[in-house]
Amino acid sequence: PNLKKVIKGIPKAELHLHIEGSFEPELMFQIAKRNNIILDYDSIDSLKKAYQFNNLQEFLDIYYTGAKVLLYEQDFYDLTWAYLNKVHDQNVVHVEVFFDPQTHTDRGVDFAVVINGIYKALEKAKQELNISYKLIMSYLRHLSEEEAFKTLESSLPYKDWIDGVGLDSSEIGNPPSKFVQVFKASAKHGYKLVAHAGEEGPVDYIWEALDLLKVIRIDHGNRCLDDEKLVQRLVKEKIPLTLCPLSNVALKVISKMEEHPVAKMLEKGIIATIHSDDPAYFGGYMNANFYETAKALNLNKRQIMQLAINAFEASWLSSNVKEKHILEVK
Ligand code: HPA
Ligand code: ZN
Repeated sequence: PNLKKVIKGIPKAELHLHIEGSFEPELMFQIAKRNNIILDYDSIDSLKKAYQFNNLQEFLDIYYTGAKVLLYEQDFYDLTWAYLNKVHDQNVVHVEVFFDPQTHTDRGVDFAVVINGIYKALEKAKQELNISYKLIMSYLRHLSEEEAFKTLESSLPYKDWIDGVGLDSSEIGNPPSKFVQVFKASAKHGYKLVAHAGEEGPVDYIWEALDLLKVIRIDHGNRCLDDEKLVQRLVKEKIPLTLCPLSNVALKVISKMEEHPVAKMLEKGIIATIHSDDPAYFGGYMNANFYETAKALNLNKRQIMQLAINAFEASWLSSNVKEKHILEVK
């Protein structure tokens, strides 16, 4: 009964959040109107009804369509600010946010427009909401490595604002091995490296992300339990997995929440963490992800706290700030 209260009371870090995936229908309609864009849906309700997915691709098609409404710096600012306010209410104190520049630059929106809007909202949240942040630029894996290189180039004037690079979008058929050179170049510019792997794709993609891309964190990684050797590697090298339970159910990566692997992962000593991925599309932000998972898997308070601690552990905060947050969880 007080599970929700316990979860809300714990300070949390969000490490797997696509800012475009926090675009709530209400804000989407509002921005569409002021930008004179006509959406394919005539009401917020009919749009919400379309949010039923059988796999990752069905979601991505709608997610990229929604993002087309974003044209100006103010739009990116409003999107980011709305997200930060929402999670502030949920006792999220640190965020590491993904953005997909190519989703916008491919439509003729400048990299500068995108990042300025996002950055200004993050800075305001730091000042006014006391939320710390990191920013992660994600390459779209359904596009070519050459396209990713162009994005890397565009990011360089802003590299002081960007902490890392990631890899997202359609996983199957677009293995990490496709992006070896651009990840190497990104690291040379000082970016930290992460990649989505093993969400829908096979366990091999997780190995590739580690061995070929040299990532320091895996986004999703659900499939790792298929491979005991991989599990040992993740534990030994302390490679965190940023899991997104409501996303996994919404995209049918698992058939029901009761089947979520996170409890087993904790048992095996993996630094597993819980996040919201694309909360506007998958039915919940951080607290809902914690709550639904804890309820379905019967997690006890110690396990819930471990998940929150793991997220600070897995974050890119300095070790003294990590320690401070971890003490606040306990
Ligand atoms: N997986 C891959 N790409 C994405 C996702 C996801 O869950 N969300 C936004 N882009
Ligand atoms: Zn994701």
